Amino acid sequence: MGNVDVVQWMITGNCNYHCSHCYLGEDNRMEPDISSLLSYIEYFKDYGIKKVILTGGEPLIRKDLGQLLKALYDANIKVTGIITNGALITKDLLGMLKDFGNDTTFSISYDGDETHDVVRNFKGAKEKTLAAFDLCRKEGFNTASDMTFYRGNAGNLRESIKTLEEHGCSSLKVSPLLMAGNAQKGKLLESLTPTEVLDAFCEYIPFYFVDKIKMKVFLSAYFYGDGQNGIWDIPVERFKMYVDDCDKAMCAKEEKVPFLYIDGRLLPCAGVAGYKEQREKMRKISDGGIEAAMKSPAYAGFMGYTLKEHARSNHDCKECEYLKTCMGGCRIIAGIEDFELHGKDRYFCTYFKNGYLGKVKAAVQLGKSLAALE
Ligand SMILES: C[S@@+](CC[C@H](N)C(=O)[O-])C[C@H]1O[C@@H](n2cnc3c(N)ncnc32)[C@H](O)[C@@H]1O
Ligand code: SF4
Ligand code: SF4
Repeated sequence: MGNVDVVQWMITGNCNYHCSHCYLGEDNRMEPDISSLLSYIEYFKDYGIKKVILTGGEPLIRKDLGQLLKALYDANIKVTGIITNGALITKDLLGMLKDFGNDTTFSISYDGDETHDVVRNFKGAKEKTLAAFDLCRKEGFNTASDMTFYRGNAGNLRESIKTLEEHGCSSLKVSPLLMAGNAQKGKLLESLTPTEVLDAFCEYIPFYFVDKIKMKVFLSAYFYGDGQNGIWDIPVERFKMYVDDCDKAMCAKEEKVPFLYIDGRLLPCAGVAGYKEQREKMRKISDGGIEAAMKSPAYAGFMGYTLKEHARSNHDCKECEYLKTCMGGCRIIAGIEDFELHGKDRYFCTYFKNGYLGKVKAAVQLGKSLAALE
């Protein structure tokens, strides 16, 4: 049995939408046949995978989803999550998940009250998405959400968060638009600079407290609020504990969830799916199983990339006073413009060099003071 028990599984590259922002682009639109998926389940069993999070493309578009859910049930593997655009969630699907013993959390993407249809490139997508949240709540399923943050929706974060809370969403992760795939090709959505993203987050934070939001909200790695339990935190500041030792791997992902790509390659995380060059260096699980794929040079090199190696390859970071806290940031974000393992994550860099720790803390204090006045 291996040391991870969960895999995020891209069961199809096909999709019912052609979103303006999709980092996977249009050349990932293919679907493995069911016999390949069933063979992957055998590798899951061999390694000790007990849980899967289904994603895509749009995972609910598969015609043979019932057969897949039955096979997972027979293998005693739970579907703990489904990442979806929500349009294809039906009562029948929810019934089937229950019948196969799953207590699934649906992560239903939502890209803003005014902008969801623009991002999804589909008129009426917002109504479908909000209806999906309602149906899940009615049928007793937990929901979470991911929001892609860009110039178009930065101004209505407060209202969009309230909307999600009203529709029973338990947790939201807001992430800046990655300029990859359709976002890069179509140029229909305008990204924000790192300073604009961080300023918009600081502008919103007081409202999290004033509005007494109960839903958990992650503003990327820069703010985490859990109004239900009265907790807040700045995740990026916690990453440093991973790298006191410069020979330790620096990926700060707290839960290491491998990502099984449509062609059977095991990737270190979902972000790599959008980078053909890196992706194709990874090994297929049919070539020796999950453990062998994780030990392959490309996968192990990515996950085992150390702070020492980073400092050796990036002069600016080597000389930087924040190196041990920042670690150069996330390798995926760093590589966005031109996949480069040794690059800088512009968001982390801006956060540390421009005093955003103080600005986030000040925004929290302001929010708490205003909330106390009410
Ligand atoms: C690729 S989709 C697959 C699951 C499903 N089809 C959906 O849209 O939720 C997974 C997540 O990636 C997000 N995403 C896609 N392109 C992105 C980009 N360029 N920048 C940031 N997030 C992106 C989507 O909004 C979604 O939350
Ligand atoms: S973001 Fe999701 S829904 Fe949109 S095109 Fe990509 S896979 Fe499909
Ligand atoms: S703050 Fe910038 S220069 Fe310093 S370690 Fe981070 S990415 Fe590198």
